[in-house]
Amino acid sequence: MRTAVCPGSFDPITLGHLDVIERSAALFDRVIVCVLVNGGKDTGMFPAERRLEFVRLATEHLPNVEAARWDGLLADFAQREGACALVKGVRCGSDFDWEYQMACINRGLLPGLETVLLPASAQYVYFSSTMAREMIKYGQDLTQYLPAPVAQILRKGKD
Ligand code: PNS
Repeated sequence: MRTAVCPGSFDPITLGHLDVIERSAALFDRVIVCVLVNGGKDTGMFPAERRLEFVRLATEHLPNVEAARWDGLLADFAQREGACALVKGVRCGSDFDWEYQMACINRGLLPGLETVLLPASAQYVYFSSTMAREMIKYGQDLTQYLPAPVAQILRKGKD
């Protein structure tokens, strides 16, 4: 069984993330979406447990996808789960530059751990979690940018 990890902050998960997760689920037998807390500090807009809940709701329709939270090194998580690959989406050159560095670091930490970079689908190239957080702050509806159950919860929270 080939296991892949889709890592990220997911603060919050967007349709762009979900697109990468769905495409990973078609490539690998088992996919673990890993919500990471960088440096052990839970400093996002949404606490890690909430981000994890959003990921679980958004991926409920994918039978070979599970979700987990991890507070340490991604390579340690991949080793614990027996994963052969990390999968990340790339939208532009600066994403690639960053992900290339991360891929080298992670392969150095865990030899044999490959990073698979999926080009973002065109409709998601111009959106990010950073933009989602900004729109949430200003009370905007995010139906066209976030997975339906997540957008619905955020809309209800506003009423
Ligand atoms: O959603 P993002 O910002 O693209 O996610 C980045 C993330 C969380 C995947 C990355 O920062 C990460 O892997 N953090 C965990 C700590 C780690 O393993 N760092 C790399 C070695 S120093």
